[in-house]
Amino acid sequence: LAKRVASVDHVELSKHDKKEDCWVHLFGIVYDVTQYLDFHPGGIPELLRAAGRDATPLFNQYHAWVNYESMLKACIVGPFNGDLSKLK
Ligand code: HEM
Repeated sequence: LAKRVASVDHVELSKHDKKEDCWVHLFGIVYDVTQYLDFHPGGIPELLRAAGRDATPLFNQYHAWVNYESMLKACIVGPFNGDLSKLK
């Protein structure tokens, strides 16, 4: 289980932008997908494009129908509370 926090802002999220430490924002929640990377059917490099960033647009572009909420339950870090426009 990912270590949970009360909230995550864009500064904190952007620090976790690598294969060994990969967080993504998805629909208002920040997930630690480091352990999930190896299991992503779309591959590690694709998912890494969203590392430390807002994964929502890419997620919707490739598979808006995927039930990420059940898949990533154990990966929740906490709610996002920051400014998405300040992310790269
Ligand atoms: C495929 C999950 C993020 C790109 C898939 C599939 C799942 C999945 C379950 C298989 C879908 C199917 O066969 O119907 C997730 C989850 C994500 C995530 C839980 C949450 C972080 C992303 C991101 C990208 C991406 C950010 C792009 C940058 C792809 C691609 C495929 C795929 C290209 C298709 C692979 C193929 O058809 O061979 N993903 N994904 N995914 N994903 Fe993701």
